[in-house]
Amino acid sequence: MKKKAILLAGGAGTRLYPITKIVCKQLLPVYDKPMICYPLATLMLGGLREVLIISTPKDLPMLRDYLGDGAHLGIRIEYAEQAKPDGIAQAFLIGAKFIGDSGASLILGDNIFYGKLDFYREALALDHGACVFGYQVRDPERYGVVEFDATGKAISLEEKPEKPKSHFAVPGLYVYDGQVVDLCRTLRPSARGELEITDLNLLYLKRKELHVKLLSRGMAWLDTGTQTSLLEAGNYIATIEHRQGLKVACLEEAAFRMGFIKQTDLNAIIDRLPKGEYRDYLRMVCDEGPATG
Ligand code: DAU
Repeated sequence: MKKKAILLAGGAGTRLYPITKIVCKQLLPVYDKPMICYPLATLMLGGLREVLIISTPKDLPMLRDYLGDGAHLGIRIEYAEQAKPDGIAQAFLIGAKFIGDSGASLILGDNIFYGKLDFYREALALDHGACVFGYQVRDPERYGVVEFDATGKAISLEEKPEKPKSHFAVPGLYVYDGQVVDLCRTLRPSARGELEITDLNLLYLKRKELHVKLLSRGMAWLDTGTQTSLLEAGNYIATIEHRQGLKVACLEEAAFRMGFIKQTDLNAIIDRLPKGEYRDYLRMVCDEGPATG
């Protein structure tokens, strides 16, 4: 069972300029909370409690201000800088000391998952190799793409191919065993000058140590890469929250329901919150107790 995770929240945010001129992409609102809550909640609901957040020297202080050391959520958060956006796989070189030889999961700070997370918990329980996922999308050319043979075995992976060999994109959620840091050390920058996560996954594929699990269409994997998809993601979350009266990716609630913090801890958090809808919601969660929802 993996215990550690890296949440990669750097990058220049150029596609969302000018809204990313001052605030980094991962702190932009997705409906009622900052974007980073969604990937962090995914890690927490997967049962992971040791998280390294990697971001730019400019944005890291703001992220640290927001999430602190994680103690209030019953988790441990460390921070590290990525000087330049030299590629997603560089996260494992930056986080080598944090990971040690125990393997780790990686999630991209702009990836939002909504649905039953059993697929992720099963991947975290794998002893050996790496696990990535496949999700059907209309526009696979914007992502890493995985191709399967007739028996459903993954046979190729390509990063943003002009002519995708399938409609299955690889979401920004990955699980790796203890070989990951050493394998990353063998990677060389791609034509666009980045250490590609797809190249790391190809190394595992060549060694026949890559598991690829398809996510069911009942899962939502939302994109926040463009102004339109960011707005759509916000609308999706708003729709679900209004329908159910439950919040998606409310970090304090996730910590409480996972048993990372006790009712007395949640009460203390609520006392410190400003009056408003978020506080009222947590009051309801706290009064109901951890077992529901
Ligand atoms: O969202 C899933 C996709 O994420 C995968 O299907 C692709 O295989 C993978 O390459 C990646 O594609 P993107 O085009 O979304 O990558 P992008 O360069 O936009 O980076 C994704 C996030 O990671 C973004 O929020 C910024 C952050 N990032 C990226 C790089 C390259 C960093 O923090 N540091 C980096 O060096």
